Amino acid sequence: MSGAISTDATLDSPAKTTAAPRLSTRFTEALGIEYPVVQGGMMWAGRAALAAAVSEAGGLGVITALTQPTPADLVAEIERTRELTDRPFGVNLTILPSINPPPYDDYRRAIVDSGVTIVETAGSSPEPHMEYFAAHGVQVIHKCTSVRHAVKAESVGVTAVSIDGFECAGHPGEDDIPGLVLIPAAADALSIPFIASGGFADGRGLAAALALGADGINMGTRFLCSQESPISDAVKKRITQASERDTCLIFRQLGNTARVARNSVSDEVVRILNGGGSFPDVQDLVAGARGRRVFDDGDIEAGIWAAGLVQGIIRDIPPAGEIVTRVVREAREILAQVIGRFG
Ligand SMILES: Cc1cc2nc3c(=O)[nH]c(=O)nc-3n(C[C@H](O)[C@H](O)[C@H](O)COP(=O)(O)O)c2cc1C
Repeated sequence: MSGAISTDATLDSPAKTTAAPRLSTRFTEALGIEYPVVQGGMMWAGRAALAAAVSEAGGLGVITALTQPTPADLVAEIERTRELTDRPFGVNLTILPSINPPPYDDYRRAIVDSGVTIVETAGSSPEPHMEYFAAHGVQVIHKCTSVRHAVKAESVGVTAVSIDGFECAGHPGEDDIPGLVLIPAAADALSIPFIASGGFADGRGLAAALALGADGINMGTRFLCSQESPISDAVKKRITQASERDTCLIFRQLGNTARVARNSVSDEVVRILNGGGSFPDVQDLVAGARGRRVFDDGDIEAGIWAAGLVQGIIRDIPPAGEIVTRVVREAREILAQVIGRFG
C-alpha cells in the first residue's frame, strides 16, 4: 500500500527553481518531476502550450498524440513543447477500438524517435506496446478505470498507474466506482506508484488523494479551464458556471460510457439510445467535427464535449502553472493543519 502522508508524501524545503516547496512521492521520484500533479491527455486540448506550462511549473504536462492529424505533426508538436520547457513532459497515446484505426505504430515510433521518455497509455491494455517502449527507455503511465486493469498493467511492467474514478471526464468505464473507494482499493492492490484521477481540482483533492493512498493526482477538466488551454473562452466560462450536476453519461447502452457536459445534444443522444436506437442513429450527433466546433467556435450546443463532475468546484480560469502551484500549496497547508490538529 502506498501514500500514507507521514511516509510517502515528504514535505521538503523549497526547491531552487520553483516558488513552492517540493512535494515528493514515489511518483515524483519515479518520473523525475517536482510535484505529483499531472495534466492528463485531452483530445484537442492537449497541445504544446498547455503541457509545457504544467511541466514548467513542476508538474507533468501531457500532449495528446491523436490530436495531431499525422505522426509528423506530432513530431512538430513535441518540438514546440521542447521550445517552451526543458522539463519532463509526456505524450498520451489513447488506443480505442475503431472502424478506421489511426496508424498507432507510426505515432508510437514518432514518440520514441522524438526522444520522449514518458508515455501515458489509455483506452486498452498497454501490453502490446511494453516491449517497444521498454527497449527505447520510455516510462509508461497507464490510465485505467478499474483495480483489475491497474494490477494487469503493473504485471506487464508499467512505471505507474493513473486510475480514473467514476467522477472523471471522458470514459469512466462500466464499474461506476467513485474515487473514495477506488483509490484505497488500488492502494491495497498495487505495489508500483499510482495517481488518482477524476474529480480533482484543488489542494483539498490532492490532500485527500494522498490520504487515501495515492502518490499524486491527474486532472483533466481543471486544466481544460486554464489560460493555456487552446479552446474557446466561451467553453471555459461555461465550465466555471456549471454545477456538479451538469454532466451526462452517454453510450451507457453501448458499453462504452462517456461523461460529457450536459447540453441539448447529449440529452438527445441519451433519449435516442434509451428509446432503443443504436450507434448509427446517433453517429452524426456525436461526430468529432461537431465537438471541435464547440472548442473552436465556442458554440456550446454544437456537439458533445468531455467535462467532469469536478466542474462544480471550478470557478476561475488561471494560468495552468498557477493551478499546479496553488494545488500543491493548498494541499501542504491542509496536510500541515491536519497533522497539527491530530498528529
Ligand atoms: C476535453 C477532454 C478530453 C479528453 N480526452 C482524453 C483522451 O483523448 N485520452 C485520454 O486518455 N483521456 C482523455 N480525457 C480524460 C483526462 O485525461 C482525465 O483522465 C480526466 O479528465 C480526469 O477527470 P477530471 O476531468 O475530473 O479531472 C479527456 C478529458 C477531457 C476533459
